Amino acid sequence: AVAILGVPQLTACTTFNDRAPIDTVGKVDFLTPLPIPPIAESTVANGIRTFALEAKTGTSEFIAGKSTPTWGYNGAFLGPTLRATTGETVRVKVANNLPEATTVHWHGMKLPAAMDGGPHQTIHPGDSWTAEWTVEQPSATVWYHPHPHGQTEAHVQHGLAGLFILDDTDDPAELPHEYGVDDIPVVLQDRSFESNGTFATPDRAVSGLVGDTILVNGAIGPVLTVASERTRLRILNGSSARVYNLGWSNDQDITVIATDSGLLRKPQTTDRVLLSPGERVEILFDGSAGETVILRSHPQDLRMGKAMSDGAGANDTLDLLQVVAAATLTPAVPLPLTLIEDNLFASIASATIQESRRFELSGTLINGKAMDMKRIDHVLAAGAYETWMVRNIHSQVHNFHVHNARFRILSIENAEPPAYLQGWKDTVLLPAGQTANLAVTFGDYTDPDLPYMYHCHLLWHEDQGMMGQYTIVDRKDVDDAPRSINVDA
Ligand code: C2O
Ligand code: CU
Repeated sequence: AVAILGVPQLTACTTFNDRAPIDTVGKVDFLTPLPIPPIAESTVANGIRTFALEAKTGTSEFIAGKSTPTWGYNGAFLGPTLRATTGETVRVKVANNLPEATTVHWHGMKLPAAMDGGPHQTIHPGDSWTAEWTVEQPSATVWYHPHPHGQTEAHVQHGLAGLFILDDTDDPAELPHEYGVDDIPVVLQDRSFESNGTFATPDRAVSGLVGDTILVNGAIGPVLTVASERTRLRILNGSSARVYNLGWSNDQDITVIATDSGLLRKPQTTDRVLLSPGERVEILFDGSAGETVILRSHPQDLRMGKAMSDGAGANDTLDLLQVVAAATLTPAVPLPLTLIEDNLFASIASATIQESRRFELSGTLINGKAMDMKRIDHVLAAGAYETWMVRNIHSQVHNFHVHNARFRILSIENAEPPAYLQGWKDTVLLPAGQTANLAVTFGDYTDPDLPYMYHCHLLWHEDQGMMGQYTIVDRKDVDDAPRSINVDA
């Protein structure tokens, strides 16, 4: 059966699942070695690094003896980690062997709109699609996932997602970078299971599907054994709706070295990292020999009587990943004081602001409108630096992600964001009622007829139409650029 791409039927239950908080402290058996998604194979010819991805159906065994129907790239669940270096041209051939049309979006990547893999780049069952672009951005942990309009939650929930690590030759050599050894991918997802092992679809909270069981890289109860004093964890919130409030079980500081779009200028310490769907954070774990700690999601602080992400499992306490340091550890070298020289922000801050825009999030609408594939909401001038004010005027949590862009959070509720949130981002968490001011820079590929997206990354909201579209054109063409496009039915 071929699914119709479109806005999902409103028959699904959207009542708030007002269940008691979950507390899994001491209840998770950490027995499964943390699976490490393999590095995707690639070939290099004529200066192009080529990867192949196949989206397909399969079965996975998350619970011993139970088989779960899942979808994955090149395997049954999740996908391999793609890795490339700044300046390289990459080509990814994606084959769709699913029973439904899908797309593959490169979340966090600067690339031409035709390569973005958003809802306009449909891959029908049995077809394939090839994306090619040159990596023109600093090192970062970006990721890829389906983005078919109205079906993103379902496709991601089945298991389609993977990491794309970008390296830069300027990265400090002192940072751990041996993949799977001291540089570890950590993909956090939540699911619920039926007794026969299939994924359950419980009633949605207002924020979307919130599961009661945590998968890390597809494993329940994962253990990571490290053999170095310093380990880098590249954490992705790959969940549909759940916001994690990360901390260590012994409350030691978290050292943050990077957020969504790249390294921080300097390492920053904090006790908690709030991570909403789609966001990434890179942290360092400095272990002592023989130590065991747990990466935990703590109940969120109350602000004005409300949790930061009310309705998204905000009061849950969840043990996510056990980290065990071996009895002897390879010593770590001192961290550099500066991770990257980053002059871009200083230069954009002094530049003439070219445009400022406002986005109001309410219900599942942005500026009172639902996504229309045919409507271009904004036309941007290539090379622009813009300030975007994003206001969550709703009583529930949302977040805000912009394709083909990276931004700095200038303020949240008129205050400076915490130090670890002052680097480059592509997704920002917006607790109920809060406003963020962003300084945004965009990739400069122009195409008047093919848009990029901005949207809430709570996948159910996105599917419901909490998304808008922008194009980039030459400055002189902004006024005459099309405000609507033809979309094949
Ligand atoms: Cu991660 Cu528009 O998506
Ligand atoms: Cu939302």
